[in-house]
Amino acid sequence: MLKTGIEGLDALLGGGIPEGHIVAVVGSYGTGKTTLGLHFIYEGLKNGESCMIISFDEDEQSIIDNARSVGMDMESFSDRLHVVRLEAAEVRRSLEKLESDLPEVIGSVGTKRMLIDSISVLETLFDDAGRYQMLATFRKILKNAGITAIITSEADKYHPTTSKYGLLEYVCDGLISLKVIRKSELDEPTLGLEVVKMRRVRHSRKPKPYMITDSGIVVYEEAEIF
Ligand SMILES: Nc1ncnc2c1ncn2[C@@H]1O[C@H](COP(=O)(O)OP(=O)(O)OP(=O)(O)O)[C@@H](O)[C@H]1O
Ligand SMILES: [Mg+2]
Repeated sequence: MLKTGIEGLDALLGGGIPEGHIVAVVGSYGTGKTTLGLHFIYEGLKNGESCMIISFDEDEQSIIDNARSVGMDMESFSDRLHVVRLEAAEVRRSLEKLESDLPEVIGSVGTKRMLIDSISVLETLFDDAGRYQMLATFRKILKNAGITAIITSEADKYHPTTSKYGLLEYVCDGLISLKVIRKSELDEPTLGLEVVKMRRVRHSRKPKPYMITDSGIVVYEEAEIF
């Protein structure tokens, strides 16, 4: 089990994410997907593990700045943190190149944990068949390297427990959904985290309230939403 670094979430999972699992984290904009992924990476760095962040949107400095704003000092682990920026259009052009280059980079630094944040842009560039092939390629690379990974993605507009294209959750071993729950238009919404699936783990399926604070995500695993 690899701890996510979020106490309440680890409790929901009975300890953490099983080693070698690929877990999708889906939610709409601003629900804390990136922050959850950063917790997972920071926990690994503190444990002395080599960690990699594959980013499509942001450069290394802005990732480090984001982490700092929620109380994580990634910079002091910069020797173990490897940020790889991928150009979505380039991956779209050649999955073969990804398949030949990425394992080499992973091998050269001995990556144990990975965060892919976010795969949404890449998902939009493929048609259904291509999208499956792209996700399967990432899966193959991660599984061959024995990496434990979190992949973030946009949720379906109307179904927060489903990814936008409804494919990622089948390719992954686990799915965590971050959702905004509104009692009424006038009330402040509650954020709810739900473990939708986690292969080989007996987990709770009850959505639990969480908050994003100056020290990152806090999941209240003992509390009920309403
Ligand atoms: N210190 C803080 N205190 C309270 N809320 C915060 C704090 N820092 C960030 N947030 C909230 O967290 C949100 C950003 O979280 P994060 O970037 O992890 O979400 P995301 O799901 O990755 O978003 P996106 O879809 O834009 O990638 C902000 O929009 C804000 O609402
Ligand atoms: Mg994000």
